[in-house]
Amino acid sequence: MQVGEVPVQNPAQNPVQNPMPDVPFKPGLEGVPAVQSKISHVDGQLGLLEYRGIPVEALAENSSFVEVCYLLIWGTLPTQTELDDFESEVRHHRRLKYRIRDMMKCFPERGHPMDALQSCAAALGLFYSRRALDDPEYIRAAVVRLLAKMPTMVATFSLMRKGHDWVMPRDDLSYAANFLYMLNEEEPSIEAARIFDACLILHAEHTINASTFSARVTASTLTDPYGVVASAVGTLAGPLHGGANEEVLEMLEYIGTADRIEAYVDQCIANRQKIMGFGHRVYKVKDPRAVILQKLACELFEKQGGDRFYDLAIKLEETVSDRLGGKGIYPNVDFYSGLIYQHLGIPADLFTPIFAVARLGGWLAHWKEQLGENRIFRPTQIYTGHHGLAYEPMAER
Ligand code: SDX
Repeated sequence: MQVGEVPVQNPAQNPVQNPMPDVPFKPGLEGVPAVQSKISHVDGQLGLLEYRGIPVEALAENSSFVEVCYLLIWGTLPTQTELDDFESEVRHHRRLKYRIRDMMKCFPERGHPMDALQSCAAALGLFYSRRALDDPEYIRAAVVRLLAKMPTMVATFSLMRKGHDWVMPRDDLSYAANFLYMLNEEEPSIEAARIFDACLILHAEHTINASTFSARVTASTLTDPYGVVASAVGTLAGPLHGGANEEVLEMLEYIGTADRIEAYVDQCIANRQKIMGFGHRVYKVKDPRAVILQKLACELFEKQGGDRFYDLAIKLEETVSDRLGGKGIYPNVDFYSGLIYQHLGIPADLFTPIFAVARLGGWLAHWKEQLGENRIFRPTQIYTGHHGLAYEPMAER
């Protein structure tokens, strides 16, 4: 052997070795506990979802999105004074730094709003660069800023990409009403604001989904909360996770009429193509959030004159459940949410940014919980590559 010569080993002599033989490899970490958490609980067989032990049905019926964020992040329902103080802080931090708006002027008009949101969330870290993760006041200030400013970011980009001026937030409106006001440039009805607020509650938290896992991995390195949120937004943007609600509308538009449903579903099955808005890694029954969103959609359409897609969606649900219910494929949270948002006048490419604004409550709760008992995420791997190969000179390749 020459000095420096690497012994060429035959990979066959190095069978794939799991460094932790008692921990089998699970693609996508399916079923593998990655964290311990007190924030929410899902029962995929019974179709249950609880936030801090409270069923999501009760919260959607009786609470508000701001109160639910308080519950998720600090672990208990607030007293009236605590809620008033928190709500007031959020109301009064909705404005954006003008430099963030100036940055948006450089974004391409055709850029996806999720990319704009991810950029703006990360940019907040430039303005609030002090890190004091052990200071409760720092934690609260970051929570307030992100919850307050994310809706403004979504609405501002939505208008500026059309060459319009942005709309300043209105401190006299509730969280949901102000968000809709900035999106549509008109004050929503009480009914529309209530339904939108319930939608935000239903999307706020869902145990260790992909974007929340991203948030926790990023949080575990002790970076700032703006980077944590930017990581999570980037993860949520994918169509297998948060991006499906936009694709559900495109699917319904493509199907067009009820007589085309069966052929569409059978073609998807034959081509092993996923049907958007259906299926879930945990729920093997209808997502409890889809049940509530369907009721909210009915309420909205009854009051505001029907919806051209609702009947089609019902028929599609029946057909998919009939064909794939045996495999536990039922509507998930994304199936009915887009119908509601479209009816509220929201463009389809803003559906996932709205999901991100809602899920911010859960991401911030998991960020805080991760900091409480942190250990940086660094899993292992099963190496399946080669060993000890020689470096081939260019002339021999
Ligand atoms: C959310 O994790 C969370 O909590 C996510 C979420 C949250 O609140 O954060 O709840 C948000 O639920 C949004 C999910 C939105 N995505 C979609 O609607 C896209 C379509 N759905 C699928 O991509 C899928 O159902 C997933 C990604 C949601 C779950 O996929 P899994 O658990 O990895 O399931 P799988 O791909 O292993 O599929 C298992 C079987 C397969 O069939 P076989 O190979 O066993 O024969 O079920 C089939 C799949 O083909 N299947 C579907 C299907 N989803 C699964 N078949 C048709 N259409 C589908 N939608």
